[in-house]
Amino acid sequence: MNIAIVKESKDFERRVALTPDICKQLINSGFECSVEKGAGASSFFKDAAYADLGCKIVDSKSDLIKNADVVVKVNPLTNEEIGMMKPNAISISFMYAGSNPDLVSKCVQQNISAFSVDAIPRISRAQKMDALSSQANLAGYKSVIIGAYHLGKIFPLLMTAAGTIKPAKVVIMGAGVAGLQAIATAKRLGAIVEVSDIRPETKEQVESLGGKFIEVPADDSVKMEGGYVKGVSEDFLKRQREIVAKHISEADLVITTALIPGKKAPMLIPEDLVDKMKLGSVIVDMAVEQGGNCACSEYGKTVDKNGVTIVGEPNIPSLLPLNASELYAKNLATFLLHLATKDGFKWEMDEEITKGSLIVHQGKSLIN
Ligand code: NAI
Repeated sequence: MNIAIVKESKDFERRVALTPDICKQLINSGFECSVEKGAGASSFFKDAAYADLGCKIVDSKSDLIKNADVVVKVNPLTNEEIGMMKPNAISISFMYAGSNPDLVSKCVQQNISAFSVDAIPRISRAQKMDALSSQANLAGYKSVIIGAYHLGKIFPLLMTAAGTIKPAKVVIMGAGVAGLQAIATAKRLGAIVEVSDIRPETKEQVESLGGKFIEVPADDSVKMEGGYVKGVSEDFLKRQREIVAKHISEADLVITTALIPGKKAPMLIPEDLVDKMKLGSVIVDMAVEQGGNCACSEYGKTVDKNGVTIVGEPNIPSLLPLNASELYAKNLATFLLHLATKDGFKWEMDEEITKGSLIVHQGKSLIN
């Protein structure tokens, strides 16, 4: 089976789907790997590094894709790329199929199969394949570094002959994978960290990392499914905003990571709350790609709102392209070796990981 590693073309994207080392492991397992020229360049992997480990470097995207049995990317394939695939070939990427119906139709039309890594079930035996977690973990770390860069002060308590500097106060909204890593990173840098989440089990996780949990009493409107928040009422969000407002207005840095899968991100920091924040404080809105947790954040921009800096950086994992590609590549190779052998895909249609992540099978859409 020939795996094609396609160069990413989306704005703000610097990752590559498979790294040279991981290609080598796949080659050792009997696969062939072909890489689009320059695919690894923005994540610091040279063509020569791939070639030295046995990959073929291909100049033309269409030649690469039309000869591939499996096409791998970080972002979904473009319509043009799908149009280059041979019938019954397989694509693997972050498809977010629920919000990309046109992409699903294009895969059906081209008579290919498509797996989406964001749909891999989050069960213990799939942890090594969990690309959502590997990327969110890195993003959580980087969000603190971005915040620290924009802040006009340091994080730790500092006692010097010239005076004492109080520790910075960091508020983190959402204690999922990214939020928990942000807590750990901010604590390591010496900040006081306060956290809000609406899943009750996060209280213990936050406290074990040294954060203070901001209690917001849950009500019947908080709907959970498979460990995720599925929805909350406007009323609950209003109450949460009231309780959290005091903490945010006293914070130096606020990192928002709150997401509800498949829905617009909840609005947690309206404009009037930004107006109450301290001069020089910073918000890093990690939910900006899903509409943002702050009313003032702008996609792809860092803006100043009356002395508060609001960072709307999309695709934060891509700012750490080396580590993010290494982890994604490992996730992808584990996934691929679970689904296939060098001789072809197993198509175990009732197996939980296959069933969860297979979006289009040989030209037939499996989602409603
Ligand atoms: P996510 O990125 O979808 O959401 C981030 C966080 O935002 C979540 O903790 C969510 O509760 C929180 N949130 C939503 N609305 C909020 C609001 N109004 N205010 C404050 N916080 C709000 O979540 P992520 O990080 O992708 O995963 C979280 C879930 O996935 C958890 O249940 C976790 O245990 C589970 N998980 C399971 C894994 C496994 O078993 N292999 C691996 C990783 C995560």
